Amino acid sequence: MIDEKKRIIDVCCGSKMFWFDKENPDVEFCDIRELPKTEYCLGRYIEISPDTVCDFTNLPFADNSFCLAVFDPPHLKQVGNKAFMAVKYGKLGEDWETTLAEGFKECMRVLKPNGVLIFKWSEIQIPLSQILSLFSQRPLFGNKRPQKNNKTHWLCFMKGEQA
Ligand SMILES: C[S@@+](CC[C@H](N)C(=O)[O-])C[C@H]1O[C@@H](n2cnc3c(N)ncnc32)[C@H](O)[C@@H]1O
Repeated sequence: MIDEKKRIIDVCCGSKMFWFDKENPDVEFCDIRELPKTEYCLGRYIEISPDTVCDFTNLPFADNSFCLAVFDPPHLKQVGNKAFMAVKYGKLGEDWETTLAEGFKECMRVLKPNGVLIFKWSEIQIPLSQILSLFSQRPLFGNKRPQKNNKTHWLCFMKGEQA
């Protein structure tokens, strides 16, 4: 059952690496998997412990529930299932285009009107332009050039914008 006081949803939180407060009570942390503390690389550990285990293509929350949504889906389609990158970030399936399009649609559905979506994408294997063509809206702003070290983009969308 969702705590209706929560204003923020992270639809695929993984190990919450980019959160300053990993226990922030204002955030509904979701992921499709749980993973007990596991050594994924020599001396490096990962733990995935979402509030709700669910699929971002079918979120178990009502329309217009959150002020802010965070969407940082897996970005790799070619990686061994046991490779540490797959353990850490997950892996895209064969139908990844449909999955990402549905994920974006679900984020927009659970956002309140004028709610904000922060989308993160690393272009290591798939260019951002290909991903944006799957979405019904253009981003408002973000870093147009990817970060040098990990080819990452952070983009901002607003529900209801036709940009
Ligand atoms: C790039 S990682 C997220 C990393 C996270 N932002 C962090 O700071 O640690 C992507 C996550 O999406 C999850 N995931 C993959 N497919 C999903 C789906 N259909 N629904 C929900 N989560 C999914 C994976 O389990 C993985 O933890």
